[in-house]
Amino acid sequence: MTELNLDLLFSRERIAAEISRLAAEIDRDFAGREVLLVGVLKGSLLFTADLLRALSIPAAVDFVRLASYGSDTQSSGIVEFRYNLESPIRGRDVIIVEDIVDSGYTLEALYNKLLLQQPRTLKICTLIDKRARREVAIEADYVGISMEDGFIVGYGLDYDEKYRQLADIYLVRPEETPFP
Ligand code: IMP
Ligand code: MG
Repeated sequence: MTELNLDLLFSRERIAAEISRLAAEIDRDFAGREVLLVGVLKGSLLFTADLLRALSIPAAVDFVRLASYGSDTQSSGIVEFRYNLESPIRGRDVIIVEDIVDSGYTLEALYNKLLLQQPRTLKICTLIDKRARREVAIEADYVGISMEDGFIVGYGLDYDEKYRQLADIYLVRPEETPFP
């Protein structure tokens, strides 16, 4: 594939500041308890690690891997679970950690599946909330940064498995935006 033209959108300093704020909110809301962060691979790899480090309350971590069928950039609404939780979440305080909520299909599927296992509480924390593209009624409880639209890469977010390693988040130039 050709290299995309990228414009800096959210700096590493902005990301770090939002994560500190989110961690403080979670520390406050779950004071005296232990949370289980459920990171959604692969996009939330870096975010989950940084959020985990920023928390003061005791926190365990686990991961799920989801794949949603459709075109490269458009969710079909059909979500496959490729890798599942290691241990039961019944009675635990669980926080789903997502990189970005777009149509919301992925998150809705995961949320409903985890809810069936009867956690004590089930919350959603997303680094990016892309509001203009929401197709299902699902809201994150903790939101790092809200944006309207546009395809972004970096800090875990990829385009065709590239750019996850960038420390900042970049907007793909609109004329090259891979969304239809
Ligand atoms: P949803 O089911 O449409 O909400 O899909 C969310 C998933 O699509 C995210 O977890 C990302 O993996 C991917 N995604 C959505 N928007 C972007 C983007 O702007 N850049 C990179 N990946 C994205
Ligand atoms: Mg993701």
